[in-house]
Amino acid sequence: MGDSFFGEKVAVVTGAGGTLCSAVAVELARRGARVALLGRTMEKLEPVAAAIASAGGTALPLGVDVTDAAAVEAACRRITERLGPCELLVNGAGGNRNDAVTTTTEFEPSEIGDARPEGMRGFFDLDPGRMLDVIELNTIGTIIPCQVFGRVMAGRGSGAIVNFASMNSYRPLSRNLAYSLSKAGVTNLTQWLAAYLAPAGIRVNAVAPGFFANERSRKILMTEGGGLTARGQNVMGHTPMKRFGDARDLLGAVCWLLDDREAAFVTGITVPVDGGFLASSGV
Ligand SMILES: NC(=O)c1ccc[n+]([C@@H]2O[C@H](COP(=O)([O-])OP(=O)(O)OC[C@H]3O[C@@H](n4cnc5c(N)ncnc54)[C@H](OP(=O)(O)O)[C@@H]3O)[C@@H](O)[C@H]2O)c1
Repeated sequence: MGDSFFGEKVAVVTGAGGTLCSAVAVELARRGARVALLGRTMEKLEPVAAAIASAGGTALPLGVDVTDAAAVEAACRRITERLGPCELLVNGAGGNRNDAVTTTTEFEPSEIGDARPEGMRGFFDLDPGRMLDVIELNTIGTIIPCQVFGRVMAGRGSGAIVNFASMNSYRPLSRNLAYSLSKAGVTNLTQWLAAYLAPAGIRVNAVAPGFFANERSRKILMTEGGGLTARGQNVMGHTPMKRFGDARDLLGAVCWLLDDREAAFVTGITVPVDGGFLASSGV
């Protein structure tokens, strides 16, 4: 265990109880970083902390909502006391919600008629409040940790941040209006912040995962029998490498972007990790 760049550095990972960033947190710890694990649910963070501890690493799980600035500031004080000042930040907390997506992939006349099918939710039915929840989580929930932990990094004159974008950052997927625009926002804020924080010695980049099965997307992409739903088949048809991503597929890109030796002159970019999804027209 250990690496001359990551060794003993303090890393904060939000969404660290989730599918992708639990693997990121374990990898940073494997490379020797002391890792603060942030998420709302301690029950999701504790097994990750236990896995890190049992491999000889250091992890500090903290139940925090990333959209709550006061809570993130309180977490930052705890992290500084317990581990030291934050040097690396991975903003993995994010996601979508079922009540903020349409059930239709395009306009259907029945959605504005009297005989609207039960359960149909078209564009005209989307609840602005639910869409705001998604937008707030993915954008403000990334900006607040950048403010709180970025301030600590700016005080030391160095640091690196990796945000989580999506294929939706480039072109919106059907149904996902609020999620798409919020992930386009993540790419945009990554560029804005990279330019703003360069004089502070802080690099800001993002990764854009393609399709990785998590608790929510597994139900959308896979059948109970382990096959593919129609949407899963559609995704696979547009993924030249013909598989979903595995969290381990992201670790190289995330660690490269965080590493000042390897990516010293890299800031403001978003790296797709997508099995070729972006490159393929699917036709
Ligand atoms: N999986 C994919 O295919 C995919 C593709 C593109 C982009 N992404 C992005 O990659 C990131 C990680 O995705 P994932 O697949 O690992 O999702 P996941 O398994 O759902 O993990 C996301 C984590 O974020 C935490 N979280 C949610 N809201 C939060 C809040 N307000 N404050 C603090 N933590 C919060 C959740 O824990 P709590 O509910 O306990 O807080 C959860 O553990 C997300 O930003 C996602 O949008 C994923």
